[in-house]
Amino acid sequence: MDIRTQIDMTRLPRHVAIIMDGNGRWAKAHGQPRVFGHRNGVKSVREVTEAAAELGVQYLTLYAFSTENWGRPASEVNALMRLLVQTIRKEIKTLQDNQIRLQTIGDHSRLPAKTAQALLEAIEATRENTRMTLILALNYSAKWELTEATRRIARKVSSGHLDPDQITEQTIAEHLNTAGLPDPELLIRTSGETRISNFLLWQIAYAELVFTPVMWPDFRRPDFYQALLDFQHRERRFGKTSDQLSTQNV
Ligand code: IPE
Ligand code: IPE
Ligand code: MG
Repeated sequence: MDIRTQIDMTRLPRHVAIIMDGNGRWAKAHGQPRVFGHRNGVKSVREVTEAAAELGVQYLTLYAFSTENWGRPASEVNALMRLLVQTIRKEIKTLQDNQIRLQTIGDHSRLPAKTAQALLEAIEATRENTRMTLILALNYSAKWELTEATRRIARKVSSGHLDPDQITEQTIAEHLNTAGLPDPELLIRTSGETRISNFLLWQIAYAELVFTPVMWPDFRRPDFYQALLDFQHRERRFGKTSDQLSTQNV
């Protein structure tokens, strides 16, 4: 039976986040340099993005480059940045055809000028698209984001624009890069690693975590559908008891 037909379309997550991991190991297993894995990972990005948009997921956030990834060999970092520019330019058509709006989170001040420029152009070109929002996390880390948010809140307090007693969870959420986006209900990590690696720490407070051994370049539509099914089989209790949930309609 087609796995897609098992998905309950009335209970789709609005926002799915993915830690796309395993490109290097996949390449090594194929006797190729790491960048071969990154190149093949782009195919997975296209397929999963299209699958998410077709199903009706509203927001898809992909972790593409972490703050910590600058610590990799310069040749790999440069190859990744070049691949990013090529991919963004090439995939604008896919985004337009699928009515997908591109956004980013992360610190762009350190990205190479060409990369930042390509991103800005794609964001601008797709800004009116309404079917799904694709958010690329680039030079992103959750601790950086929370530190930045804290600085901005502190500045407002010190200039007298904000009373510390008025700071709520909402205030913090509004100062994150993800302001205005719903929190992801589902976080997927590929490649068998079971860690978060500094991704969306605040926003995943109540997300369901799905870890799959599949390497990112092998992660295609059926794997995405399977992760959605895993999500739909979970009981999201939000601190309550199972009995409470069956008597409430949550
Ligand atoms: C994920 O794959 C892509 C990035 C982090 C940019 P990796 O490059 O981390 O691949 P592994 O984890 O070394 O196999
Ligand atoms: C996390 O993958 C970052 C991205 C997917 C962009 P890493 O491969 O960098 O994470 P660690 O180092 O294994 O935790
Ligand atoms: Mg990795």
